[in-house]
Amino acid sequence: MDKLQQRILENMHTAVLLLDESLRLRYINAAGEMMFAISAQRFVGQAIRHTLFDQELANALEQVLASGSPFTERELVLDLGYRRRVTVDLTALPLQEDDGSTELLVEMKQVDRQLRITREEGLLAQSSATRALVRGLAHEIKNPLGGLRGAAQLLERELHNEELKEYTHVIISEADRLQALMNRMLGPSALPHKRMINVHEAIERVRQVVSAELPATVQLSRDYDPSIPELHADLDQLIQALMNLVRNAAQAVGEKGQITLRSRTLRQYTIGHTLHKLVARVDVIDDGPGITHEMRENLFLPMVTGRAEGTGLGLPIAQSLINANGGLIEWESQPGKTEFTVLLPINSTPNETEKAP
Ligand SMILES: Nc1ncnc2c1ncn2[C@@H]1O[C@H](COP(=O)(O)OP(=O)(O)OP(=O)(O)O)[C@@H](O)[C@H]1O
Ligand SMILES: [Mg+2]
Repeated sequence: MDKLQQRILENMHTAVLLLDESLRLRYINAAGEMMFAISAQRFVGQAIRHTLFDQELANALEQVLASGSPFTERELVLDLGYRRRVTVDLTALPLQEDDGSTELLVEMKQVDRQLRITREEGLLAQSSATRALVRGLAHEIKNPLGGLRGAAQLLERELHNEELKEYTHVIISEADRLQALMNRMLGPSALPHKRMINVHEAIERVRQVVSAELPATVQLSRDYDPSIPELHADLDQLIQALMNLVRNAAQAVGEKGQITLRSRTLRQYTIGHTLHKLVARVDVIDDGPGITHEMRENLFLPMVTGRAEGTGLGLPIAQSLINANGGLIEWESQPGKTEFTVLLPINSTPNETEKAP
């Protein structure tokens, strides 16, 4: 290979692999080494079956060699071991050599990031449509509810029969219960009071409150990055949002389990459409059963609950509070590990926060 070709291949963002007829690695470029976290020196000459590619993919590649026709697979999930997974668009092209042998050129472009952005857009849109719907509905219900309660009180005064008063009591207390629910649905009406805060203030407060509620058999541990710079946000709103996530985790693990509160920073990270130099991420991780399939699609919609006594408001409220602070909540779940991630922009000047979606 000449120097120029080498330079091009080594600087490409796409992973490029060349395999021989027995699916042994002949060449891998730098992007490929990065993706698989291997060194070309060690891997060239080795079979990729069971090492880089799983059985199924290796079989598909053999098929390409046998048939001589190219193969493309979109959004293929590669399991890279150590819980590392990437989603790629993969193309395999059989190359006929002069000596009659065939080689296979495999190109892989990582698409995780793109998928993430599409999914986030969904989350953001969902949450603003939700907010409008919920607010409209709650307002419509609150007014007649006030009238109903007032009328029941007047009626109660006129009644002299104690037995009949029981009925007005029921009306009043149920109206109060509905009123409280509507207030929760309307969420915080006040605009956020932002100031420079340390994100750990919020996490620690939540940890203290929740640890008092947890059974001794549930462990609540912390894994903080103490160097996270201060960020411009509303402390009470962060506390409320995190509280909802941690309570969900506590309900998911039940009597026995492990909840971890983790904080980290991310560099050059996009939230919605805004690229931020630095983002704080707070993860609430639990080892409960995971989010069921029925719940997944509509997790952030109000009134969607998997618990008999749940109101299904915890997550939509948390999402809208974090959105109000320029951030976003993402999640990932499988049985035994559910992770809710709060992403919040950290900006050098407070004004930059306001521009975020
Ligand atoms: N960490 C988690 N593990 C498993 N399922 C979860 C987790 N967090 C949320 N869920 C599921 O998502 C549903 C919705 O959560 P959300 O907090 O919005 O409402 P809720 O907890 O049911 O009620 P509320 O928070 O209003 O009391 C839950 O009922 C539960 O089924
Ligand atoms: Mg909840």
